[in-house]
This record gives sequence, C-alpha cells and structure tokens, in this order.
Amino acid sequence: MDRIVITGGNRLRGQVRISGAKNSALPILASTILGDGECVVTNVPHVVDVVTMEKLLRIFGATVRHEDHCVVVRPETIHSTEAPYDLVKTMRASILTLGPLVARWGRATVSLPGGCAIGSRPVNLHLAGLAKLGAEISLEHGYITAKAKRLKGARIYCDTPTVTGTENLMMAASLAEGTTVLENAAKEPEVVDLANFLIKRGARIEGVGTDIVTIEGVPALRGGDHEVIPDRIEAGTYLAAGAMTGGDVTVTHCRSVDLEAVLMKLREAGAEIQAEKEWVRVMAPPRLKATNVRTLPYPGFPTDMQAQMVALMCLAEGTSVVTETVFESRFMHVEELRRMGADIRVEGNRVVVTGRSSLTGAPVMASDLRASAGLIIAGLAAKGITEVHRVYHLDRGYEQMEEKLRGLGAQVERRKGSAATTVAGGG
Ligand code: UD1
Repeated sequence: MDRIVITGGNRLRGQVRISGAKNSALPILASTILGDGECVVTNVPHVVDVVTMEKLLRIFGATVRHEDHCVVVRPETIHSTEAPYDLVKTMRASILTLGPLVARWGRATVSLPGGCAIGSRPVNLHLAGLAKLGAEISLEHGYITAKAKRLKGARIYCDTPTVTGTENLMMAASLAEGTTVLENAAKEPEVVDLANFLIKRGARIEGVGTDIVTIEGVPALRGGDHEVIPDRIEAGTYLAAGAMTGGDVTVTHCRSVDLEAVLMKLREAGAEIQAEKEWVRVMAPPRLKATNVRTLPYPGFPTDMQAQMVALMCLAEGTSVVTETVFESRFMHVEELRRMGADIRVEGNRVVVTGRSSLTGAPVMASDLRASAGLIIAGLAAKGITEVHRVYHLDRGYEQMEEKLRGLGAQVERRKGSAATTVAGGG
C-alpha cells in the first residue's frame, strides 16, 4: 500500500488546474447504458472510481474506450446485468447502475453496498423509489435484484435529499411510461450535470436543481456528447490548502458559482478571495480566524469539504464548531489530527476545534477519501514530516494530487509500501 510523505511548512503558491468532477462522471458514465448509440464523455478525471465504473460497464458487455480524459461508451453489446460484489465493495457509487439497468434492460442484480467509514449509508430510498416506479425488488445473498418489463411514472417523495438516489431515480424515470415527480430531490450541481446529459439524449426533465424534478418518460434515449463539469470539491481542497499554508493559490478551469458556501467560509476565516466565473484565488491572512461550519445538502456547505475545513480550523485563532448533519460518523480524521498536535474533540455530531499556532508532522492513517485530503493539507501546513497511510482512498477521487501540489511548491512524494485490504470509503 502506498503512502504519501509530506515535508510541511512550504507556503503554496501558483495556479492549479481543476479536473472534471468524479461525482458527475460516475452517474454520467452509468447513464450511458440507458440509451442506444455512442456516448462521448470528455473532461473525465483519471481516478480509480472512474476506472471501477468503466470495469462495471465492461462486465455488463458495453464497449468502453478511454483515451486521455475522454471516455467513449457503446452500450449495444450489453449481455449481463449483474454488478458483482468484488467491484461494488470498492465503490458504493456502483449502485448508480441499478436504475439504468432495470429501466433499459428489464433486470438488474447489484451487490448491496456494505458499511463504510463514514456511516451506515443505506440505499433504502433508491429501492423504495424504484419500487414506486413498479420495479419488483428482492434482496438475496447480499444482492439486490430489480425487475420490470417497463417502469411506470410515479410521485416519489424522498425523506432526505439523496444525491445518488435522485440520480438513480431520474435515470430510471427517463425511460418509464408516463410522468414521474421527484419531491425533496437533491440539488447538487452533479445532479444537474447528469440531467443536462440525459436531456441532450432525448430525456424530458424539468425542475432539476430545485426540490421538485419532473420527468416525462420517453421510449428510448440516444447516444450523445458531454463535457463533465469541474470538480468543486477538488477546487475547494486546493483553496483550503492555500489558506492553511499561508499561501496564494489560484484554482483554474473551475466554476466559482458551485463553490459559494466554501468561499464564504474561507472569507469568514480571514482569507482574501478573488473569484471570476472560471477561477478563484485565495490569499491567506497572517493568521486564520475560527469559524463555525454546518454541513448541509447543496447549496449548503458540502460534507465532502468537512474534513478539509476541520484541518484548517486546527490552525485558526479561537474555537470553531463544525457540525456534520449529512453523515453520522464522518469524523475519523479527528483522532489523526490530534496526533499532529491539534486541540480537537468530537461531541456527538460536532467537532470542537481550538486552533493552535502550529501542528507537527506525524504518521497518520486515512480512513476515507475526504479524510485523506484533510490529513494531506494538515501535513502541508505542519512542521516536519507527515506520512499519510492508506492513500488508496485518495486515488479514488483526486487526480494527480502529488503532482498538482508539487506544482504549487509543496514537498510531497509517494512511497511504495505493504499491501492492504481495500474498503469503500465515503466521498
Ligand atoms: C453522494 C456523493 C458523496 C457525498 C454525498 C453527500 C457521489 C458518488 N457521492 O453520496 O461524495 O458525500 O453525496 O453530498 O455522488 N440516505 C438514506 N437512504 C438512502 C440514501 C441516502 O438514508 O437510500 C442518507 C445517507 O445516509 C446520508 C444522506 O441520505 O445521511 C445523504 O446521502 P446521499 O446524498 O445519498 O449520499 P451519496 O449519494 O451516497
């Protein structure tokens, strides 16, 4: 298992180009199996989760070509509708194939994702929604099976807005007979990106980006081309790294509009922010200030930036409270940050951080994708050497992170180590 070794203390400076959003690329690639005809998806990030989704599509029998950041999928050759445990256990987002498979191919068997490091993460809302659309759902031997001749439109209310749940149901409803109304739908930019791709291919979707999404089912979808939106979480991570290291960092090829909650909190923490449509510059203050953060569904502060923000608060003047309302136990990074000298404690779903003037490098263990990012940026700001273990989590969602950080002047390298078991983490 690889580890990342950081010699902290360098102020990050310069520009970093943001990759395509992993959380958009995954549903967009899954949606290719809904249609007839070639899909060409560009700005796809080179990350392990994307490779896993491509493997799944190939297992189904689709033809998948990946060149540089472009993925071409032809679904006509699909002959299997089973997503096996071995792949699903490494990536929970495999559940995104359930809706498209049953809607287009009449049947889907997808391994039930297990527990993960950030909470129990059930898929009950995906299943209840598909059942409302008329799918016959059963659970046997750890697999979910969904069957339907043709799905039928329905009114579906989600108790809590779920991102991949909304995506799954929107994809399935696109091929259902009649109208589907999704209430309390997720509004994340990645949901909107997927809808835009489906609309290009003939889907009839309205209200996406609001709480109520209406989908008029069509008999078939065509292929189509699409450029994935930039990754707002990657952008936020580099901005936090710039602010935490006393640096001056500009993220380019991003969409500042998707980053508003994060930018507001960085400003509150004392950072100077300049933003245009496709770039954001952060200039760190002499000392960051404490600020309270509450994670919420979009447009609230993203849970996928919580670990990075907690890391940042470890060096801010005063006491900050970070409240996690989306996932129940997404605080595995807290104990590791304490090992780096942070004054930090968990109280229920809140983390209370009293900023110190410095952190010290230490060996630490990553537990999930975004926790890894939080530990890396803490290591960049700490005195001495930090070794982040289990970086396979990071590789699931960040493209070329060490190269990008080195481009900003960080001292970071990857070292090879012993093997470890992979489990699906959050993010
Ligand atoms: C997606 C993102 C992930 C992000 C999360 C929240 C992808 C591939 N992953 O994950 O990076 O952290 O959104 O922004 O896009 N829930 C249920 N039942 C369900 C589904 C969800 O109770 O059937 C709950 C979850 O436990 C959680 C909340 O709903 O408390 C939101 O989770 P959800 O939006 O579904 O997260 P994911 O789509 O898995």
